[in-house]
Amino acid sequence: MAKSSLSFVCQNCGAAYNRWQGKCESCGEWNTLAEEDTTGATTIPVSARSKRKGRLFNLESLTGKSADAPRIPSGMAELDRVTGGGFVRGSVLLIGGDPGIGKSTLLTQATSLMARAGHRVVYISGEEAVAQVRLRAERLGLSDASVQLASETSVEDIVATLSEGAVPRLIVIDSIQTMWTDTVESAPGTVTQVRASAQALIRFAKKSGATIILVGHVTKDGQIAGPRVVEHMVDAVMSFEGEGSQQFRILRAVKNRFGPTDEIGVFEMTGLGLREVSNPSELFLSDRDLGSPGTAVFAGMEGTRPVLVELQALVAPTTLGTPRRAVVGWDSNRLSMVLAVLEAHCGVKLSGYDVYFNVAGGLRINEPAADLAAAAALVSSLCNAPLPTDAVYFGEISLSGAVRPVAQTSARLKEAAKLGFARAVLPESARGDAGGDAGLTLGSVGGLTTLVADIAARGVKPTRENAGRDNSKSTAGDKNTAPARFKRGEG
Ligand code: TYD
Ligand code: MG
Repeated sequence: MAKSSLSFVCQNCGAAYNRWQGKCESCGEWNTLAEEDTTGATTIPVSARSKRKGRLFNLESLTGKSADAPRIPSGMAELDRVTGGGFVRGSVLLIGGDPGIGKSTLLTQATSLMARAGHRVVYISGEEAVAQVRLRAERLGLSDASVQLASETSVEDIVATLSEGAVPRLIVIDSIQTMWTDTVESAPGTVTQVRASAQALIRFAKKSGATIILVGHVTKDGQIAGPRVVEHMVDAVMSFEGEGSQQFRILRAVKNRFGPTDEIGVFEMTGLGLREVSNPSELFLSDRDLGSPGTAVFAGMEGTRPVLVELQALVAPTTLGTPRRAVVGWDSNRLSMVLAVLEAHCGVKLSGYDVYFNVAGGLRINEPAADLAAAAALVSSLCNAPLPTDAVYFGEISLSGAVRPVAQTSARLKEAAKLGFARAVLPESARGDAGGDAGLTLGSVGGLTTLVADIAARGVKPTRENAGRDNSKSTAGDKNTAPARFKRGEG
């Protein structure tokens, strides 16, 4: 008789212990240990295991011929942008996101478009009944697409059914947490089950050449719930993000074995499903607060695509011993660094002020190029000096206070010109890459001090000692005209 080996498995990270404890020592989470029967992980009885001989397989050379059409575009340009040009045959993707963010909607749309293009596409829902999935498709106006639906949760049944007939091009499993396999005895949703189910599905994908998309739930702190191990097993991990209150949804690749990880796909949730947003800058700048202090437009890059976005800062006198620093959409360490540089090199005293920083539209910025725009927004708020509404900013700030060049200057400038901006404030050394074809007035800054002085000089109130000492020429000019395409607010 095989002895059943019960053990306690952390539902967050998958670490196993042989007795219960309150805190997982591996990931530090509390109350995540649950009793699971892990014998299943190696269910083959010892007798059978020892008898089994290794099967001979062929070894191949690197130059062999592979099956053609390695990628199948989904028909949604924004989705293809993130996957790297379409789904790779035999690959497995994991899409994570908060409940209600629109994962099922996105995948219903993608599967329908692929089905319309003539591919065999299967949508397995473990959470919703077939009728509910149909209802959604009807709402999206996609009920005519020949997607094959099922509401199933047994991995063995799914694999057996899908092995029949033509190999499906795309299989959606919504969600991996609802799947279970006979090979292990734990309850569905536990780490052991999710891992074993994912393994079985991945094996099927590799063997058959079908692409599988696994939907994964996300916990409060943004991790894909349960096993981080699934993230290591799949070929690509995408996260579908957005503020619940806002209509934008951003699809981001966290890991991608077959494509880039810095591209984002932007969607807008409408009454008729997700609409692709091919020009995100327009969306992020659509409700701009023109002419108020503390906002600067950053000309950023998301992968190969320039994205203009508004950065907002509020610098207000603090009543606390330790001033508050609150950041949404940017790295808080980066903000601390910019504040320290302002303080150390530009004489801007911020220790008596609370600083709030926000990236408009729910976008998350990872680029160091946002430093200059962030600094401009901060100084503008502190000095109560609105920045010119037709200017964009970009540049990296070094700890010495110098403004360093960033990549893709001309792409950023072109996008700004396209959206009606008239000038750009950029690193001095980047002027050479600008190309001059964008038609923008370029104001270059070599050091942060120059920028601070320029902004302070525009201040509405006479500024305090916090302005930079170098009060020389203005690079940004005084005209305060809004780009034609935006309505002007109070200026
Ligand atoms: P859903 O795709 O079910 O989310 P998930 O699978 O990530 O949990 O989307 C649910 C939300 O999307 C729901 O709050 C309603 C909204 N929605 C729309 O606004 N328009 C639509 O056309 C659809 C289908 C959903
Ligand atoms: Mg869903």
